[in-house]
Amino acid sequence: METKNALDKLKARQGQARLGGGEKRISEQHAKGKLTARERIKLLVDADSFEEFDLFVRHQSHNFGMEQYVYDGDGVVTGSATINGRVVYIYAQDFTVFGGSLSKTHAEKICKVMDMALKNGRPLIGLNDSGGARIQEGVDALAGYAEIFWRNVMSSGVIPQISAILGPCAGGAVYSPAITDFVVMEKEKSYMFVTGPKVLKTVLNEDVSIKELGGAKIHASKSGVAHFMTDSEEETMMLIKALLSYLPSNNMEDPPIYPSPDPVTRACPELNDVIPDSPNKPYDILDVVYSIMDDGEFLQVMGNFAQNIVVGFGRLNSHSVGVVANQPRILAGVLDIDASIKAARFVRFCDAFNIPLVVLEDVPGFLPGTSQEHNGIIRNGAKLLYAFAEATVPKITVILRKAYGGAYCVMNSRHMRADLVYAWPSAEIAVMGPQGAVEVIFRKEAKASDNPKQVLKDREAEYRDKFSKP
Ligand code: HXC
Repeated sequence: METKNALDKLKARQGQARLGGGEKRISEQHAKGKLTARERIKLLVDADSFEEFDLFVRHQSHNFGMEQYVYDGDGVVTGSATINGRVVYIYAQDFTVFGGSLSKTHAEKICKVMDMALKNGRPLIGLNDSGGARIQEGVDALAGYAEIFWRNVMSSGVIPQISAILGPCAGGAVYSPAITDFVVMEKEKSYMFVTGPKVLKTVLNEDVSIKELGGAKIHASKSGVAHFMTDSEEETMMLIKALLSYLPSNNMEDPPIYPSPDPVTRACPELNDVIPDSPNKPYDILDVVYSIMDDGEFLQVMGNFAQNIVVGFGRLNSHSVGVVANQPRILAGVLDIDASIKAARFVRFCDAFNIPLVVLEDVPGFLPGTSQEHNGIIRNGAKLLYAFAEATVPKITVILRKAYGGAYCVMNSRHMRADLVYAWPSAEIAVMGPQGAVEVIFRKEAKASDNPKQVLKDREAEYRDKFSKP
């Protein structure tokens, strides 16, 4: 009887604790079009697989009468679960408790799952929806953030870390997602900034809305902070599951194998016509990517940022691969600062997590211009070179068309120790394009002749004949 009573009491307390800030706050959360922390976890993980930790933990603050306001769980739900049968560790901030703000206790709960994820070599997923540091706790809250950041750094390259932003993420709080491998932002309700619109108005007299300053669209297309933008929380969870399917659980394991009926010997005859007759005509590299990958499936990463380079995950013969491909449709596929940073980070991620690299090359060179030079194309282009050279995963390059100049060297060339380099019949491997080259080396000869135009034309034909073929 005694045991039954105790069990009933426990169940009642668990039920109460699982309501977080209570039914009114849950309704407010729903009214904003947002799900609660527990609803989000339920969408993300395999049915009944979530094992919650620290459900009854409460904050210990006595500042400003805070001892009168205590909630079990203290604004964050933490635990482990499986996704497609594989173990992951999760934290989900609960906005219904003090706006999901981060107290000492809240941070300790997050740190506990981070430590477990690292110790057991399993991915960490953070679902962020928080007003930032719990203001009443002062430096204790700041210390909590710093403890999280430190663990993000120690876990980097060891276990995959994924951040979903599903509400506010402001101030220094942005740096935890920034260090993780992938940031997914829900389109309507999420925002990230270091300094908010009110402060901008006071300090700089700038008028800007929250969305314009740090909404998902800006971070997915302009700042490059977000790797994915989703239309809903449901889509966010689907995307995280899809992303995990390409990744190993840690840097000592290989990615999972998803057997595909698509035969590895399948020919892609449609690619015979993909390269236009004119070397200056664009085409869509995604047609090539989708054609080659198993079942025509490809998960593009940072698809709206630096679109002159395409990066993402697919499978070949059932194994995960990371694709890096110049996109001739945007800026002729040139390498610039943003493209170099985007691709370099992706290459380093693949290298850390045993994901072979497939490089599809059609690059006319690095983007010229004062803006690029002054903003550091030299040091940022170097990052891509470094990433390819340093990567020890299998590396294959296919030169589809242009492979010019420094960009030829950088884009996983043989000399960067690519394992195999293929060239299509349309490949042009040269220091620069025919027109520019001829003007440099035959300008004097043309000037001295009776018909300079004809000389340049003949020389260009000769140059093409020599270099514009593999
Ligand atoms: C304590 C907080 C809080 C916080 C929100 N709440 N943020 N409590 N610390 N940081 C509380 C509110 O007081 C309120 O409680 C409840 O959560 C819901 O908040 P609302 O303001 O009613 O919600 P909403 O209108 O949706 O606005 C959300 C918000 C706003 C935009 C996030 O709450 C806000 O601006 N909060 C402060 C954000 C901030 O400046 N944080 C510090 C950032 S600096 P009641 O009981 O009144 O309903 C930072 C430094 C990190 O985080 C440094 C790391 C190195």
